[in-house]
Amino acid sequence: MSIVEKPRGTRDFSPAEMHGRDYVEGMISRTLETYNYRKILIPTFEHAELFKLKSGEEIEEHMFVFKDKANRELCLRPEATASVCRMFSGELQMMQRPLKLYYSCPMFRYEEPQKGRYREFWQMGVELIGAETPESDAEVISLASECLKKLGIEFKLEINHLGILRGVLDDLDIKGEKQDKALALIDRKNFEELKKIADNGNFFELIKLTGGRDVLENASSLLNGCVAGMEASGELGQITSWLDAMEIDYIINLGIARGLAYYTGTVFEIRVSELGAQSQICGGGRYDDLIGLFSGVKTPAVGFAFGFDRVMNATELQKIEIPEKKTDIVVAPVSADVRIDAAKIASKLRDNFIVDFDLMGRKLGKILEYAGNIGARYVIIVGSEDMKNNSITVRDMGTGEQKKVKIENVEMAIKKILL
Ligand code: HAM
Repeated sequence: MSIVEKPRGTRDFSPAEMHGRDYVEGMISRTLETYNYRKILIPTFEHAELFKLKSGEEIEEHMFVFKDKANRELCLRPEATASVCRMFSGELQMMQRPLKLYYSCPMFRYEEPQKGRYREFWQMGVELIGAETPESDAEVISLASECLKKLGIEFKLEINHLGILRGVLDDLDIKGEKQDKALALIDRKNFEELKKIADNGNFFELIKLTGGRDVLENASSLLNGCVAGMEASGELGQITSWLDAMEIDYIINLGIARGLAYYTGTVFEIRVSELGAQSQICGGGRYDDLIGLFSGVKTPAVGFAFGFDRVMNATELQKIEIPEKKTDIVVAPVSADVRIDAAKIASKLRDNFIVDFDLMGRKLGKILEYAGNIGARYVIIVGSEDMKNNSITVRDMGTGEQKKVKIENVEMAIKKILL
């Protein structure tokens, strides 16, 4: 191990990468805010117990757990839903419902790093608390879809209702932890192991059903009169009717089970095929029993999280154009005696423009070279002769044209072209 090496699964982000990430984060945040979701922040580390309660094996196996100096067992947050439920059960319980929250922060999972799978990765997620109507599921699903559409990303959205799978498993007398295990195996597509727990032909046929709304009709014959399963299928029918009305494209896939154990109803995943093995850029669903574990009061909730790094990888692979970050102006003092005046001009211009000032005491030729290299649109050349007449020279870096302008008119002159 060397101190100049990053820990496995972590990354540095260059200014250009951060520009892209901020742009995409801004687009998603703005979309979430138009649906009236409000931003929150949760701690980077929590009591490890919080995630052991109901997040499931997949999360528990991959947690970064450590002891503090008082021997308390803590962990870096592997996901945010359990934290948001903890937060809700404390200070947010009295707030007006439904409560619409979103977050954007790094998560930590001790996984085998590869492209699209990191030990430190970012999620942007949404939790809608206190609403249990089909339209609330539909809103959350359409919100995820809308964010990606705004970015111009092409994707595939798949939906299921865990009530269907849980209902059938209950009827097969596969309950409790064994049931959670069966769902985790469906999520990992480990059908060999699944067969050892749930060796039932109809069940295997059911989890292979995928397609449009006809899937629900085909499912009914395989449900063998399972009341809970039929009810869940009916709910999924209502939710998809809402999605149809909102013109959201989706595929019903009865094999979607999700890797987390707290889901109780609708579950959905969004994939971008170009991403290969790590194609899932978003996952979510309804978890009506999780908040009750913390607060003692059953409270319905539904949400999702984007894997933000995978969203970024998708923009790259699908060649989504991200507007370049431009430097508007570089202010270039030609000689030492005008440096302070030039700095003052730069400072004034910063009210409206992105302005760089030569800090290296370079000759004009070198400053022009620098301005060209960083893609600046204008250079304001400040010379001592010009300053005597209260004027400066504006050079258009695109055309090479130069124009003398009175200092008081500089802002106006550049504004006319740039704003
Ligand atoms: P999740 O499916 O575990 O769900 O994670 C959500 C998204 O985070 C995944 O779809 C994936 O894009 C991304 N992700 C997961 N692990 C990694 C990793 N190691 N590297 C890069 N990206 C990763 C949750 O975390 C739930 N809390 C979502 C939710 C919110 N459900 C309801 N509300």
